[in-house]
Amino acid sequence: MINLDKSRLVGKGLHREVYRHPENNNLCIKVVVHGNADESRREKEYYRLLEKRRIVWGMIPRYHGDVETNLGPGSVFDLVLDYNGAVSKTLGYYLSSNERTREYYSCLSNALDLLKHYLLQHRIITMTLKPKNIVCQRMASGKFRLFVVDNIGNSDFIPICNYSSYLAKKKILRKWQHFEHRMLDAYELNHALHKMLTTTHSHSKHHDGN
Ligand SMILES: Nc1ncnc2c1ncn2[C@@H]1O[C@H](COP(=O)(O)OP(=O)(O)OP(=O)(O)O)[C@@H](O)[C@H]1O
Ligand SMILES: [Mg+2]
Repeated sequence: MINLDKSRLVGKGLHREVYRHPENNNLCIKVVVHGNADESRREKEYYRLLEKRRIVWGMIPRYHGDVETNLGPGSVFDLVLDYNGAVSKTLGYYLSSNERTREYYSCLSNALDLLKHYLLQHRIITMTLKPKNIVCQRMASGKFRLFVVDNIGNSDFIPICNYSSYLAKKKILRKWQHFEHRMLDAYELNHALHKMLTTTHSHSKHHDGN
């Protein structure tokens, strides 16, 4: 049984709390605090599918199984850390101030493009993509690597996209487009973001045709 206390809390969503693993600084433990564990179950099933496909775990944290904690059952994942050991901040953080987006403009823009192509290349389906569910790992070079930390998997009743590459790619592109539109709405006054997404969009058109 692993003991988690608030001092180790590194993140919190609507459903889960994320704690730094007491025995390993590179891992985190997620516990469901609100609602039921259905989402987590689906996530685990999807992770199993990705394990079977032997994908490269470049931009989603690896899942390391479950543990018992004083707060109930927990799931263990890689904790995304910046080069200096600090827990990486979310994309939402980098978009929440125009100055910050401007400061990191080209790195964020490249990293978003790389994430999109990573998801396409490995046929990784996500449910709704949100800036609070993407963390931006800052590297010593100044570049970012983005990780999708939540909402991975397919909630379709008949998840045919898990078996058809063609349909999976179409779905990933559609999800990505919705993600961009939602960001433009949510950060309406962030001009740097607007510029970034309209520029990236011309790349996406090129890739859509492939
Ligand atoms: N592997 C990770 N590495 C670093 N930070 C993480 C990681 N996983 C989650 N976090 C942080 O913890 C927060 C909450 O985690 P998560 O999104 O899994 O919880 P949730 O309750 O399922 O979220 P939601 O409200 O979107 O349903 C994230 O927004 C992020 O800031
Ligand atoms: Mg979340």
